[in-house]
Amino acid sequence: MILPLCILTLAQIIASGSASTPATDTSININLSQPGKAISPDLFGIFFEDLNYAADGGLYAELVQNRSFEYSPGDHKDWNSLTGWELIQREGAKGSVSVDDKEPLNANNPHYAVLNIETGGGGVGLQNAGFDGIVLKEGEKYDFSVFARQLDGPGTPLTLRLESKEGELLGEAILPSTKPTWAKASASIQVKKSADDAHLVLLGKGKGRVALDMVSLFPQKTFHNRPNGLRADLAQVVADIHPKFMRFPGGCLAHGDGLDNIYRWKNTIGPVEQRKAQRNIWRYHQTAGLGYFEYFQFCEDIGAKPLPVLAAGVCCQNSGHFIPGAPKGQQGLPMDQMQDYVQEVLDLIEYANGPATSTWGAKRAAAGHPKPFNLQYLGVGNEDQITPVFKERFQMIFDAVKAKHPEITVVGTVGPSPDGKDFEEGWKIANELKVPMVDEHYYKSPQWFLDNFKRYDSYDRAHSKVYVGEYAAHDDKRRTTLRSAIAEAAYMTQLERNGDVVHMASYAPLLAKAGHTQWNPDMIYFTNTKVAPTINYYVQQLFACNSGDTWLPATVDEHSGLATSAVRDSKTGDLILKLVNPGVTPQSVHFNFTGHNSFALTGTKWVLSGDSMAVNELATPTPLIPEKSPANLGSGLQVPACSLTVIRVAGKH
Ligand code: AHR
Repeated sequence: MILPLCILTLAQIIASGSASTPATDTSININLSQPGKAISPDLFGIFFEDLNYAADGGLYAELVQNRSFEYSPGDHKDWNSLTGWELIQREGAKGSVSVDDKEPLNANNPHYAVLNIETGGGGVGLQNAGFDGIVLKEGEKYDFSVFARQLDGPGTPLTLRLESKEGELLGEAILPSTKPTWAKASASIQVKKSADDAHLVLLGKGKGRVALDMVSLFPQKTFHNRPNGLRADLAQVVADIHPKFMRFPGGCLAHGDGLDNIYRWKNTIGPVEQRKAQRNIWRYHQTAGLGYFEYFQFCEDIGAKPLPVLAAGVCCQNSGHFIPGAPKGQQGLPMDQMQDYVQEVLDLIEYANGPATSTWGAKRAAAGHPKPFNLQYLGVGNEDQITPVFKERFQMIFDAVKAKHPEITVVGTVGPSPDGKDFEEGWKIANELKVPMVDEHYYKSPQWFLDNFKRYDSYDRAHSKVYVGEYAAHDDKRRTTLRSAIAEAAYMTQLERNGDVVHMASYAPLLAKAGHTQWNPDMIYFTNTKVAPTINYYVQQLFACNSGDTWLPATVDEHSGLATSAVRDSKTGDLILKLVNPGVTPQSVHFNFTGHNSFALTGTKWVLSGDSMAVNELATPTPLIPEKSPANLGSGLQVPACSLTVIRVAGKH
């Protein structure tokens, strides 16, 4: 018996271990003459949050840790302004270091180091080993800069040395003599020899006190060679997903741990030394060096539509647990601050889209981007507890954006779970206010994803569209496995099938640095030198690179257990089929195409399969990746157990 795909059940078929059962015959029938259903062209994207050292020490290419001496016990109980720095006294030199905030470079950046050089000797200075060591590559150039000010004494030239762990000199620059006012000194250094665990030393010899701030070292080779840019290898792996959109900067980071920790976008633009660093809700530090300008630019560089998320005038309901005495739970900005906050939201739209002559568009232009960033989507709120305090503030923001910028699609929030009180109350608000889209989140077991394979089939098409802003199948011990990736793939076929109501979806979280991870599992793990995409990464990549804008109804044999989806990309005319087998039985699939006389039965296929418990980790010697080969649909296909097969047939059908 043949059944439409939406009736298919996937429940209880996932299993661990490799396939051992003989293949079952299955046929898939597709009528190519049907017009199909228009689905979202922006379905598969990414969600970046500065969590797990995703930004500082991760994607943001700055190599100096605590460059502006703003680390504090608020970031992390063991940290202070000098964390990451070490006093150096070479060859008979004598001196000390302290921290001051009396005459800062900028009020947003209050702390600076003061080097007191008593005896010059071979130099008194500061050493920084970056984030777990500085990686330098032979022959490549690095841009160093520092702000310095001579507080007393005649002024001293500063020497910048890049050294290996053993002290070998890898690169050097002599900077001009320090002056009695803050001045920036810069140098470009070509590195003589590669090192994975280098450090930087900044030395002075002239007697007196020198103030130092914003000590920075960047590779010139950043992603797209952007100044103040992103780590090239890591950004490339993200770009290779070919996401249709990117949500940023969080997650919980966006609404913050307490009202004073809400992520305020205006603090993150302009010259980096004037940006306001702050504690990260994930209990470390955010420099804001990767700020709103850099996020928008990265989106543009990778061809992803930007989806910034701003707090809905309330902080996270989990606030206050780590700061003694801090108010606990959700709080709303006082009403007398809400008009300014609403204006801040409107100003972001002007910053992104306004002409270069507008107040905020001019700031974008000053940063080097006179053309608009074409903002289309704006998230307001993240997983918030749906309370009267939330609702009042959300509605103020929503009404203002709708009135002034009807062209912007506001994405509201329906709490942290796929059901329950906040979910229901969030949807009530969405229906009442007619919010164009809402953001649903769920982190569940692989089996949950299979059991909920029909979730969106029954969603009311007259209501808000859905953005599945955070989801991941968590296998046992919160790991990613092939089994979890395949459960996500099966689920993603329903996102395509329901691409008329589900407008966007993004796996979460995206990045995690080994040794600095607060959340598992994540899509991409990395160290300073390695990037390890999980198997789940390849599922995201296969779907994003092979998405369409028209969904075609197909039928499949009952009990095959296959989740399939057929879409057409109207730009290329390509037909794309996705076959997901979460079960233990391989399938011999036969295709019946009707409604077309001259359909080419050949194309390209990518297959992701293996042991269902396979895991791609940083130490995995041979990671599991999709295998690409020609596909001949005329002779049918073998679909392995626990697998995803994506087939692309080129041309106009
Ligand atoms: O993705 C990690 C966290 O999960 C996000 O910050 C938050 O929105 C969710 O709870």
